[in-house]
Amino acid sequence: MPTLETTVNGLALPNPFVIASGPPGTNLRVISRAFREGWGAVVAKTVSLDASKIVNVSPRYAKLHSADGREVVGWENIELISDRPLEVWTDEFKAAKDEFPDRVLIASVMEEFRKDAWAEIVERCQDAGVDALELNFSCPHGLPERKMGSAMGEDPEVLEEVCGWVSEYARVPVWAKMTPNVTRIEDPSRAALRGGCDGISAINTIRSVMGVDLETLRPLPTVEGHSTPGGYSSKAVKPIALRMAMEVAQLIRDEFPGRSLSAIGGVETGDDAAEYILLGADTVQVCTGVMKFGYGLIEQLEASLLAFMGRHGFETLADFRGRSLGYITGHSDLVALQAAGKAAREGGRGDTDARWDGDEFVAQSDALASR
Ligand SMILES: Cc1cc2nc3c(=O)[nH]c(=O)nc-3n(C[C@H](O)[C@H](O)[C@H](O)COP(=O)(O)O)c2cc1C
Repeated sequence: MPTLETTVNGLALPNPFVIASGPPGTNLRVISRAFREGWGAVVAKTVSLDASKIVNVSPRYAKLHSADGREVVGWENIELISDRPLEVWTDEFKAAKDEFPDRVLIASVMEEFRKDAWAEIVERCQDAGVDALELNFSCPHGLPERKMGSAMGEDPEVLEEVCGWVSEYARVPVWAKMTPNVTRIEDPSRAALRGGCDGISAINTIRSVMGVDLETLRPLPTVEGHSTPGGYSSKAVKPIALRMAMEVAQLIRDEFPGRSLSAIGGVETGDDAAEYILLGADTVQVCTGVMKFGYGLIEQLEASLLAFMGRHGFETLADFRGRSLGYITGHSDLVALQAAGKAAREGGRGDTDARWDGDEFVAQSDALASR
């Protein structure tokens, strides 16, 4: 019988499905719900020392639908981190751990560029009994104006220093959550791992403008006639998130063996999770999927990941973690592999751009797509 149980940085999880920081982990009520439904771990909504500075607006979400209007494929939010005081949160962390002592509760924290601020938030969260910390270096809106969130995550030097401070105080495993809004995600990830973090979480949301209302001519989501760029998530971001998770996995394999990767972005099925794990993830996190389908999604995630494992004869996640990573290579290698393959098969030359024809364009594009 295959098992989904896994141990990551010493944390024992019943399955690799983790609630990502956001509305699905925004207070004790919903955290308890997630544990009851069987989620492997919960990363709580991001907390900071002074919640009075956090003021949300409404509406703060905007959705992108499929052409037939039936499916939500993309989701933008301009939501900030938690607007609830840290003292309320630490009481709730304690209560959650009292009720679910065997379950993994991860506090997501964010602070300004001051060592004493990071020391205080780390101490207060771990004193409340959380099992691990996730450092939010990645919120793309609102907080960067205070040099927090992705403003830090875009600057490897600052990141290494802050991760170094946190490592001085942390007695629990620490994951650094990366922003995708950089050209090379390996650079800030390397800085965080050098600073002493035990793992990387990737990705947070992608900076976006969801659209413009063609009646009112105002950008979306519209608050008093105005908008601001937000963070894009859900199914539509998965290919970008997979690429970034893969790049972090390569970095861990090549330079930091033993560190962990928690992959995030558009996970809605066990097959999505299998793809991330095949590219090197230890766990996968889900945020928008829970907002679209509810906490009961965990049942289908578990069942379909187990079905995938059954089809391939995998008994544990370790049997296939990183299996597909070795098949990612450079383009020149693909050309050489193709030439060798074709030479072996028919001795012919590959197709060239001269073959493209305006009348057959769509069929030719289709013929070059995999699956
Ligand atoms: C409404 C909303 C609020 C979010 N709030 C946070 C947050 O407070 N801290 C954080 O680290 N990430 C936050 N995120 C990002 C998610 O944790 C996750 O990285 C991102 O949405 C991609 O995953 P998904 O496609 O499963 O949603 C938020 C996402 C959404 C949609």
